[in-house]
Amino acid sequence: MKRALHITSSARGGQSYSRGLSTAIINKLVSRNEVSTVVERDLTQSPPPFLDETLIWEFYKQAGATNGEERQLLAYADGVFNEINQADIIVLSTPMYNLGMSALLKGWLDQLVRVGLTYKFNDDGSKSGCLTNKKVYLAIASGGKLAFWPEGYEFIESHIKAVFSTYAGITDVSTYRVEGTAMPGVAIDYEEIIQSL
Ligand SMILES: Cc1cc2nc3c(=O)[nH]c(=O)nc-3n(C[C@H](O)[C@H](O)[C@H](O)COP(=O)(O)O)c2cc1C
Repeated sequence: MKRALHITSSARGGQSYSRGLSTAIINKLVSRNEVSTVVERDLTQSPPPFLDETLIWEFYKQAGATNGEERQLLAYADGVFNEINQADIIVLSTPMYNLGMSALLKGWLDQLVRVGLTYKFNDDGSKSGCLTNKKVYLAIASGGKLAFWPEGYEFIESHIKAVFSTYAGITDVSTYRVEGTAMPGVAIDYEEIIQSL
């Protein structure tokens, strides 16, 4: 039985469609006995700090070179790493804001990626991700519909997949979308959206 990490990032609490979709994914995995433990992380309740000069400096230090005070600065990033490292399955949800992922989720990604921890450089200069063998489900909610946007305007799935594969070694990402939430009379059937799961 596997352990899942459920990350939510919508500002709209219980009204959130992205949260509704990711919760449906979690419930389906639990009902099929694929997941036994779910760790919930609502980023609106524990927002990631912005990267600043001090934190970036800490990210690039060798683990042994960090003293007790400096470890405090890394507490959030260490928590992000530990939660994802202990999970077999990660279910991420995000609203679309201005064509991108929520700033909270981007902030979480910025706390996650660390050289020597989530990826390392090989002797030939190439990179290898360290968090292999994990499965990601991505739930995206948008007011509009991808089919109506100009070609090349998909930025959330492509960005998250690129970051995970380049800087974490996570390549197994399945995306589900709840679209058209801003349209009048919208009625969402989460089970139908995730029927291929
Ligand atoms: C600040 C803001 C920006 C948004 N930008 C977009 C956008 O660029 N494209 C889009 O289709 N919907 C956009 N929307 C609509 C949201 O994606 C939509 O309400 C979605 O359901 C939000 O996810 P949630 O229900 O999980 O909160 C935006 C909404 C807000 C509040």
